[in-house]
Amino acid sequence: MSEPSLAKIAYQTLQQGKGLLGIAHKEISTKLMGFLVPEAIPDTSHITKELLLDLRKSIKDLEEIDWYDAERGLYPKNLLFEAPWIEWFLKYPLVWLDMPSTWSRRKDRNIQDLPHSINKEIYPDYYLQNFHHQTDGYLSDYSASIYDIQVEILFNGTADAMRRRVIAPLKTEINKYFPESNDSSLKILDLATGTGRTLQQIRSAFPTSELTGLDLSASYLKQASKYLNNGENELVQLIKGNAERVPILDQSFQAITCVFLFHELPGKARDNVIKECYRLLQPNGVLILADSIQLSDSPEFSSVLENFHRIFHEPYYKNYIKDDIDLRLSMNGFKCINSDSFFMTKVWSAIKA
Ligand SMILES: C[S@@+](CC[C@H](N)C(=O)[O-])C[C@H]1O[C@@H](n2cnc3c(N)ncnc32)[C@H](O)[C@@H]1O
Repeated sequence: MSEPSLAKIAYQTLQQGKGLLGIAHKEISTKLMGFLVPEAIPDTSHITKELLLDLRKSIKDLEEIDWYDAERGLYPKNLLFEAPWIEWFLKYPLVWLDMPSTWSRRKDRNIQDLPHSINKEIYPDYYLQNFHHQTDGYLSDYSASIYDIQVEILFNGTADAMRRRVIAPLKTEINKYFPESNDSSLKILDLATGTGRTLQQIRSAFPTSELTGLDLSASYLKQASKYLNNGENELVQLIKGNAERVPILDQSFQAITCVFLFHELPGKARDNVIKECYRLLQPNGVLILADSIQLSDSPEFSSVLENFHRIFHEPYYKNYIKDDIDLRLSMNGFKCINSDSFFMTKVWSAIKA
């Protein structure tokens, strides 16, 4: 076996550092919550030593594949080190300052603590909640400004590595079904794009393609625009809208991605989004979905999945982890359905029949 290069060691060290920070943050904040608001402590399943070892191995495997995909040129290696580090560093104290209000919502089971200024009529009911007990739900600039750091902490620094797992199937299927296309003729849509972290990864892999992101949150789109449309690269189009009814013409895209949305939707809405993807894709268009792993293919992590919806307000997660997404895809006209899991993320690829 060959020695790892310096760059690989740097990547592994960065990931380890992020992992340790994530663990330390969660340990300290949980202790503080137990001390200050013991009623907010959720009833969770015990995580055994064996399970911890399995989780660690699964993170290592994720890092290996992330490095391997960069090494074989699917995306540039510098993407593995990229993040708005200074901004995250400066915003990190806000995450701590935000905690007491999160604990109080958790204690009071208050899940509809949203800004008074929003027009509730323009959003679906399922959306008007404090997912993860987060302040303002998805509906304020403040929430958008700390979301990425919260996700990094939650996943011990692996969030982008998991998002990047959409790139290999995206490239493989596009090369297979659109062999004549070059990068600049490709149109790719990212549904529920949030603050744009997934689009940022995709743009590094498809630098000249026409990219569009859609989300229901104007605040999250503003944050995405700040990161993505900074004048250095091709303009990314960002649209405020519901992924169940996208305001774009039929067959507009060769590929669609959708990352970490499905676990936050009721079953019917998941179906509606899949139908929209079918409508928006050209024949043989490529759909890549990524979301939480599910019980059927990761039974060894069942207590982690169980704890996730006990700790965070995730009203549709319990249903999602048992949902047959393959069946939903095939019932809605998709073929060649494949899936694979990477740490906490499962990635599906499917082709419009
Ligand atoms: C867990 S976040 C994931 C964001 C992003 N894909 C990422 O990787 O970080 C879920 C996102 O879905 C958006 N969302 C939820 N329901 C939606 C819907 N029906 N249509 C469009 N966006 C939706 C939220 O506003 C939020 O930005």
